[in-house]
Amino acid sequence: MNKIDIVLGLQWGDEGKGKVVDVLTPRYPVVARFQGGPNAGHSLVFGGEHFVLHTVPSGIFREGTANLIGNGVVIDPVILMEEIRQIEAKGIDVAERLLIAKRAHLILPTHRILDAASEHAMGSSMIGSTLKGIGPAYADKTGRNGLRVGDILLPDFKERYEALKARHLKLLAGYSGFTFDINDYEQQWLEAIGELRRFTLTDSEIYVNRTLDEGTPILAEGAQGSLLDIDFGSYPYVTSSNTLAAGACTGLGVAPSRVGSVYGIFKAYCTRVGSGPFPTELFDEDGERLRQIGHEFGATTGRPRRTGWLDLPALKYSVMMNGVTELIMMKSDVLDGFDTIKVAVAYKAGDQTCGWGGFGMEDVTPVYREFPGWKTPLNGIREFDALPAAFRDYVRFIEQETACRIRILSVGPDREAIILREA
Ligand code: GDP
Ligand code: IMO
Ligand code: MG
Repeated sequence: MNKIDIVLGLQWGDEGKGKVVDVLTPRYPVVARFQGGPNAGHSLVFGGEHFVLHTVPSGIFREGTANLIGNGVVIDPVILMEEIRQIEAKGIDVAERLLIAKRAHLILPTHRILDAASEHAMGSSMIGSTLKGIGPAYADKTGRNGLRVGDILLPDFKERYEALKARHLKLLAGYSGFTFDINDYEQQWLEAIGELRRFTLTDSEIYVNRTLDEGTPILAEGAQGSLLDIDFGSYPYVTSSNTLAAGACTGLGVAPSRVGSVYGIFKAYCTRVGSGPFPTELFDEDGERLRQIGHEFGATTGRPRRTGWLDLPALKYSVMMNGVTELIMMKSDVLDGFDTIKVAVAYKAGDQTCGWGGFGMEDVTPVYREFPGWKTPLNGIREFDALPAAFRDYVRFIEQETACRIRILSVGPDREAIILREA
């Protein structure tokens, strides 16, 4: 029996999951997304080209890999079809490589409008949602009203769609002063539903367990980040799914005993898009430098990402919550030019020192430890021992604090800019 390994983000998303999955895929015949939806934007860079995937797993560009969109994902067929067309334009037979869970829920055009109406009504306390309809779609799932991918095969699908849309329109009538027009998007959506029928729609939990029984390993790809988890993130400034490793079990239908490695990805600093607490956030020149050098603008929405120093208390919390077995550190090259690099090692709340409590992190001040910068480009380096000593010290400090080995270091956006270390 083989295991399912999990790749997930340990911060607030955009850690570089797309790149890591692309790099690891040659070891895995099957890659499976387990939660989230097109709020995700996973970037892959190879052969001088840059791709952003929203719903399709990041193994799609590797020949011989099956890519599964799991039951825990919410799918907007319009966005999925646009994505598929872009991949097909590169000569890839997506229908041959892609499987879609019949149990995955659909995002309706009215889910997107409800998302926007809710954000509009919240005013300055808005979540900063990507407006892709994620919250309303998961609300219908747990409220037991949702439509699933498998439903598109039913003869009365259109009636079911109309009934749910009518429910949504009633809800929307309660948002006074919010205007909308669904006609264009609805037309595209219905067409995309028709196109979806040409893909393999499957009972993915059976497929996943049978694949493991046959001795084939699977890589599960997370979306968003651990600190955006619906249960353990900084609620209500979170997404609407379980982004933690546990989400891979429910999002794919695998038992916890089948989980092997948990690869936890983090950036050498922090970013966050949208609202909510961010203790190490920088509002100064250093923050702007991180944003410009790291190209910290959303892959899905284009919004500037908030930036800050690495937050170890938050990282340790995520390592604990996910049972991370191996760490992967991204974007260290962004720090190349800094004279001094800071890392939060604890927080102060009043005159008390504390760690990441999770519940209410609004009023803490970080306690920093400073490291000398390495002032050398890391991008061309491929061996750990060839890295500057100051950088290796920084890496070892993080390993000590988290009690977890950093197995992979990424030093540039390209597939090739990677350093692999032995256990
Ligand atoms: P994801 O959502 O976790 O897949 O991450 P995103 O794709 O949203 O954001 C990560 C960004 O960083 C993308 O633009 C990547 O191309 C880029 N990237 C990934 N790894 C590295 C790295 O090691 N160095 C640099 N400079 N950029 C990287
Ligand atoms: P990837 O997979 C970063 C954030 C939004 C907002 C909150 C809720 O690319 O790392 P939602 O649309 O889910 O209702 O938004 O979550 N968010 C992300 N931030 N990366 C993502 O995905 C995100 N997906 C959602 O900005 O603060
Ligand atoms: Mg992203």
